[in-house]
Amino acid sequence: MTDSSGPDPGPPPSFEHARNRRQKARAAGLDPDYWYAVEQSSRLRKGKHLETKFMGRSIAVFRGQDGRVRAVENRCAHRHIKLTEGEVVDCRLVCPYHGWSYDGEGRAHIPHDLFGRKEPDIRIASVPVRERYGLVFVFPGDPEVAEVRDIPSIPELEGPAPWPHAIVQFDCSGHHSMLLENVSDFTHGFLHRKFQPFEGTDLRRCETIGDRVELEYDSKIGAGRLQDMFIDRGEGGCDHMLACYDYPYHWSNTQDRIKHFLFTLPVDESHNRHIFIFYLRPGAIRLPGLGPVPRVVADTMMKLTRLTTLQPLLSQDVWVIGHEQEGWERHWDRPAPELSPVVKAFQDLTIRKWEEYLERSRRKGTRRDAPPLVPTEELAR
Ligand code: FES
Ligand SMILES: [Fe+2]
Repeated sequence: MTDSSGPDPGPPPSFEHARNRRQKARAAGLDPDYWYAVEQSSRLRKGKHLETKFMGRSIAVFRGQDGRVRAVENRCAHRHIKLTEGEVVDCRLVCPYHGWSYDGEGRAHIPHDLFGRKEPDIRIASVPVRERYGLVFVFPGDPEVAEVRDIPSIPELEGPAPWPHAIVQFDCSGHHSMLLENVSDFTHGFLHRKFQPFEGTDLRRCETIGDRVELEYDSKIGAGRLQDMFIDRGEGGCDHMLACYDYPYHWSNTQDRIKHFLFTLPVDESHNRHIFIFYLRPGAIRLPGLGPVPRVVADTMMKLTRLTTLQPLLSQDVWVIGHEQEGWERHWDRPAPELSPVVKAFQDLTIRKWEEYLERSRRKGTRRDAPPLVPTEELAR
């Protein structure tokens, strides 16, 4: 690839060969030993399956006729065809070629002639999977860690009266670190000047505490004309935000009235899926001249806000990150002056956590790109 602004520098460096903070952050993965949201539960109906990827590793997720979600590696043990080319029958995922079928534990059943053998015990890896907040989560890392590490708690979305909320999901052509930097770096308000999701970008605090980067901004949230009309700001005015890169998640809290949680899925080195949940305190949504609206109306208004504001606003980020990725691949060796301490702090945390993961993998003797699989060796010889 050539470009008028300089010779082709070749592909960006691997993590091991990266020479500076930005190069390292753009080559880092996310630690698989966490729960990652992959899809909205409503989009995976009974008897259906979907393919998801975590850092290039394909996972088949399927919902049996009993309503329970299961996940296994997306590979038939027989000839390595993707199981998502097949179908779900009852509570098993069936390969389209010879009809081998798999349960949620990855155990195969062979339906055809066994040529005088006893049915062999063949398995593929299963992947821990759970549902919460209307989302399907998988745990791509060590299943034993999944037993002790929980999906992050969002009490406002649980119980009999969850806060009015909206889910916004995008697939984005960019490295996951670009998105995480984007959501907390308010200097990109220029991109959103039509919607004005925030006004003022005074960073009051940026502090790394363990596996979190905490930020405090003085900024009027929801400053656009439409949003301003429908947000009841209460006494605080909704002009102070606490935001957090709570590895590997991101969330914000504006004076306990407006909150969001972001789940990022690193699909591969240049694609990510992100699922936002925006939620507002009941009573923080109003109709002009009428004051706060009942919860059922607030729920409907959140759905409308998703269409009128959140989706178009976040589409701008998706668009610009696609271009940032292109720029990165073409000019990764050029200096990229960074003024924001937020971006640097985020990159440092991403890098440190990836180094810790690599070190852990080395000690365990596992390779990061090949999570342990259950072998089927005796028939493979
Ligand atoms: S390839 Fe899957 S059953 Fe043969
Ligand atoms: Fe943005």
